[in-house]
Amino acid sequence: MREPADTLAPPPNVRFRRMRPEDLDRVVEIEKDGFRHPWSRDLLERELAHAWSTILLATEEAAGGGEGVLGFIVFWLVHDEVHVLNIATALEARRRGIGRALMDAAADAGRRRGATLATLEVRRSNAPAIALYLDLGYRQVGVRPNYYADEGEDAIVMVLDL
Ligand SMILES: CC(C)(COP(=O)(O)OP(=O)(O)OC[C@H]1O[C@@H](n2cnc3c(N)ncnc32)[C@H](O)[C@@H]1OP(=O)(O)O)[C@@H](O)C(=O)NCCC(=O)NCCS
Repeated sequence: MREPADTLAPPPNVRFRRMRPEDLDRVVEIEKDGFRHPWSRDLLERELAHAWSTILLATEEAAGGGEGVLGFIVFWLVHDEVHVLNIATALEARRRGIGRALMDAAADAGRRRGATLATLEVRRSNAPAIALYLDLGYRQVGVRPNYYADEGEDAIVMVLDL
């Protein structure tokens, strides 16, 4: 396992930028491919408007020119804490280090603004996401029983010291 502050270089040619309203269609598409109970377009739109919320996109130049969006992360910065609410990598871009790079970018943004802790909740059954968070140095600190009302699934609470 890597040390918590030990970030790897992001994959070559991948860039990060904040989401804009015109990215909504693509983000909704990635969200729908990633989750059985995806966030709605409305929810994503509201998230874009919150001053405390950041949605970062991982992008890359598309084969025929233009920009392709490979994944996104939603996080809140409140006091000294980065709270990760949502992350997804497009199906065709999985296992290329995009999820890791997005998590690292959120942690870096938090550190630059004085955050000392990152927190998140993850479904107990979400093995790929839990593997990613453990690889980044997150540790499990608790369980919220039946946190996900849709299926009565427990949330694992994880934290990382920044
Ligand atoms: C979880 C998710 C964001 C990971 O994105 P990704 O870009 O494929 O992840 P990365 O390529 O950066 O993987 C980094 C590490 O995480 C772990 N990991 C990622 N996906 C994994 C999988 N399917 N199985 C086991 N380990 C996995 C591995 O340790 C991996 O390192 P490695 O490829 O060198 O073995 C992606 O699977 C996804 O979008 N899932 C659907 C949405 C979701 O569940 N989001 C999390 C909500 S809490």
